[in-house]
Amino acid sequence: MTEKFKWWMKTVVYQIYPRSFKDTTGNGIGDLQGVIEKLDYLQELGIETIWFSPFFKSPQADHGYDITDFCDIAPEYGSMSDFDKLLKEMHDRDMKMVLDFVLNHTSVEHPWFKESASSRDDPKRDWYIWRDGKKSGGKKPPNNWKTMTGGSAWLYYDNTDQWVYFHFLPSMIDLNYRNPEVKKTMFNVMRFWLDKGVDGFRLDILHAIYEDEQLRNDTFTWQILPSDKNTATLFRTHKYDLNLPETYDFAMELRKVMDEYEPERFLVGEVDGTVEQLKKYYGPKNNGLHMLFLFEFTSTPFNPYKYADIINRIEKNFPFPYTPTYVFGNHDRMRFISILNENVQKAKLAATMQLTLRGVPFIYYGEEIGMPNTKFKLRTSQDPIGRKFSWIPISQIKILGFSLTRDGCRTPMQWTDKFNAGFSPENCETWLRVSDSYKKINVAREIKNLGSLLNCYRRLLKIRRENIILQEGKFEFIEMKNLKKKCLAYRRIHNNQEIFIYLNFSKDFLKLDCPVKKPTLLFSTLANRVALNVNSNNNIMKLTPFEGIIFS
Ligand code: GLC
Repeated sequence: MTEKFKWWMKTVVYQIYPRSFKDTTGNGIGDLQGVIEKLDYLQELGIETIWFSPFFKSPQADHGYDITDFCDIAPEYGSMSDFDKLLKEMHDRDMKMVLDFVLNHTSVEHPWFKESASSRDDPKRDWYIWRDGKKSGGKKPPNNWKTMTGGSAWLYYDNTDQWVYFHFLPSMIDLNYRNPEVKKTMFNVMRFWLDKGVDGFRLDILHAIYEDEQLRNDTFTWQILPSDKNTATLFRTHKYDLNLPETYDFAMELRKVMDEYEPERFLVGEVDGTVEQLKKYYGPKNNGLHMLFLFEFTSTPFNPYKYADIINRIEKNFPFPYTPTYVFGNHDRMRFISILNENVQKAKLAATMQLTLRGVPFIYYGEEIGMPNTKFKLRTSQDPIGRKFSWIPISQIKILGFSLTRDGCRTPMQWTDKFNAGFSPENCETWLRVSDSYKKINVAREIKNLGSLLNCYRRLLKIRRENIILQEGKFEFIEMKNLKKKCLAYRRIHNNQEIFIYLNFSKDFLKLDCPVKKPTLLFSTLANRVALNVNSNNNIMKLTPFEGIIFS
């Protein structure tokens, strides 16, 4: 396939959770003006694209994923003119903006839903999925479907004696995409933002868009915990409510809307499923979604052998021109550095890998300074999921990379060592408690320290930006025979030029064959290493514990 590299195939995306990034009004909640103030920081870090979690009108039952107006800004975050200013400031810096698009559902408070729920004859009735129960008088829901978070997926409304379907939480009800009016309206929501100039969308739980028309009962599985390899969870396979053939077609319809616009913009989908299912979203001719989140790193132990296996599968299943993504964390997952037991050396090594693989890296705010996951009580959690599971005695399962309250990965950004970590003015209470780690882990402190994680990200992003081989080069593993459990090595190749990446995953010094005679060191996780010394007799080079290097 002869397809040129487009800007989005090699960009670097940073995810901002607006509620927690920077508060300029003193209400304890981050806002758009706060993001504007921090754009220089992000530009200096080397970020090219920013994806924003939703800042649209919402009662905030699920912190913005429950929307009441898709084309307006929630007042706690600012106004439409703040948005316009933010977009302009970003474009002036050559940065791209990606919005979160929650197509699957609306808030239960959305005027569309209120109308729809009001009577069986309401013109908006068919905008949602209403069905009769199995017995009259609200006795039994239409089928056995469960939500992604457990419990029946049907909510009974006695005013019309019918049930309505929702996939996630009862505060968010699924739209009915079999109704062409709904589709048309939501495509126009996309155009509304595209006309303003936004550069892409992140598609929230896209795999849940369609459900089986006949509402066939779901099937049983022994799988309890969610996995990044299939959709089964809590004893249900989710065969009839996720990844329906209609949803793959829908991905291509979304692409067509995007293709109305120049210059090219992109879609990245949040979808769960098997690799075969995921591949279908890219479209048979790469004419579906531009990218999908590939989440496996978020739930895989730090191990070169296991990481190599994921990379191998990604390269095999999504070869060029398909664009893979490399994701270590987001607002739903445990913070990556906490899976690494807060080990900064390991985080540097992982970042070196993430930013030198073929594809698009996604960096979650605070990941660049090593913000850890914070413990919160489930019962008093801000996150509705945490409250829902408050009867469970444990709150997190590190090995699987998730915690039952997502509050832990959403704490305010740690800018300084001042009270409130420089996120909010000192005299106010932040919406979520600031992590106790802020005295030691904060931007101001890390900027000054050349050996910090933040400066490691900066150096890596600079090298990536300056080096077309790292952006566009082919990927190839270097066989490490007896060192599979200690080391990961690969090369990137572009127009006969090569760059090598060697990563020592062990706590020991490693002696390795150097693939070139006189290597030029481009980067080391050790900030003070200036050269790569190779023994001229046997061509052996030495890596320090957990060191990662890039050289040509
Ligand atoms: C996605 C979002 C998550 C949200 C859910 C419902 O998984 O990432 O934060 O709660 O969808 O919209």
